[in-house]
Amino acid sequence: MTTEQTTGPAAPGTPPERMRERVAALLERSRARSTRLTDLDDAELQSQHSPLMSPLVWDLAHIGSQEELWLVRDVGGREPLRPEIDGLYDAFQHSRSSRVELPLLTPAEARAYVAEVRDKALDALHRSPLSGRPLEHEGFAFGMIVQHEQQHDETMLATHQLRAGGPLLDAPPPPRPDVPVTDPAAEVLVPAGPSEMGTTTEPWALDNERPAHTVDLPAYLIEAYPVTNGRYAEFVEAGGYDDRRLWTDAGWAHRVDEGLVAPRFWSRDADGTWWRRRFGVVERVPVDEPVVHVTFHEAQAFARWAGKRLPTEAEWEKAARFDPATGRSRRFPWGDDDPTASRANLGQRHLQPAPVGAYPEGASALGVHQMLGDVWEWCDSGWHPYPGFRMFPYPEYSQAFFGGDYAVLRGGSFGTDPAAIRATFRNWDHPVRRQIFSGFRLARDARPGIDL
Ligand SMILES: [Fe+2]
Repeated sequence: MTTEQTTGPAAPGTPPERMRERVAALLERSRARSTRLTDLDDAELQSQHSPLMSPLVWDLAHIGSQEELWLVRDVGGREPLRPEIDGLYDAFQHSRSSRVELPLLTPAEARAYVAEVRDKALDALHRSPLSGRPLEHEGFAFGMIVQHEQQHDETMLATHQLRAGGPLLDAPPPPRPDVPVTDPAAEVLVPAGPSEMGTTTEPWALDNERPAHTVDLPAYLIEAYPVTNGRYAEFVEAGGYDDRRLWTDAGWAHRVDEGLVAPRFWSRDADGTWWRRRFGVVERVPVDEPVVHVTFHEAQAFARWAGKRLPTEAEWEKAARFDPATGRSRRFPWGDDDPTASRANLGQRHLQPAPVGAYPEGASALGVHQMLGDVWEWCDSGWHPYPGFRMFPYPEYSQAFFGGDYAVLRGGSFGTDPAAIRATFRNWDHPVRRQIFSGFRLARDARPGIDL
């Protein structure tokens, strides 16, 4: 049960000794994953696999650089280890596509650097009271760095998916449902009324998840599962990519400019069978898995074709957290306890989404499935602060992006670590991005007299 106790973010009220153990275990787990994703020869690490991504060796040293900045220098109060490299690994100074030109640390140097930083970060963990100033209170800085490393691990996983060539990663297939889902478009009615959104008490919640506030939504319906490949293929075969009426102006312009005809990594052979490339393996597209690698625009066009819409971020969160029996919002869809292997497909335990219906234990109180894990879900909401937002601890975490050309994504993917996700966690990206593990589910307004 030890691993069960260290899967998720630290819970509210964790005492300092337990917090220290949990942080140490989570730091170790994130490093094991980073090591696995970068256990490649130098050429693989140093080359640019896509203009959308950094060379993997940049991500590795950047993980160390952020850890040094916050845990070694700030919390630990130590002098910089290598001040001359700070600028190289500042994500705001260099675009991803230009990082390959920088005089980056070699893979051997990067590995030595992150190991030295880690030693000193663990020393800081043992010295910090994990209380007092906000950065150290309930281990916030440590939780932030655990999440940061895991977020870059997910980014590196996306780089692996973009890389050409044979498979380098391996994992068992995800579980299949005991009872196959007969209606993948089944809906759940969410009653009108107030619910809590965001959090004030979650120790490692980032600034953009705060503070808790009440939203009062009209009744709506949300689908119990993310949209599957099988349904998405019907949209493609029905000519969805050629029907201008289904697309917004921005979506159509992007669809035409990029020549989009199907989700990224899909191809169709002469007899009409859909194939996909997944981490170097070419395989048939499984019909009952959530669709992944679609843009916000494609999700919106599908929704219009299906006569529905994407949920707003508030609708997504209420469906995931709200318990109508108590009126309370939960930390996770299934309750307040940590994610486990039977609740959600998280943590790169599998290298693909699981078929719909595979996680009945992870359903929300309202009966909505697979809201955490499998695929990030595009929401029909821009990237904005909650009322009462206070930037912490640095503006580039989220504040610098508010109001930009972004759409919100919720729930994490199979590549998101349990320590870096919860039902309040918010992600955002450009609506044209699809190298990320992005899918969606559908919603619609409830009709008085028909649905109500
Ligand atoms: Fe970063």
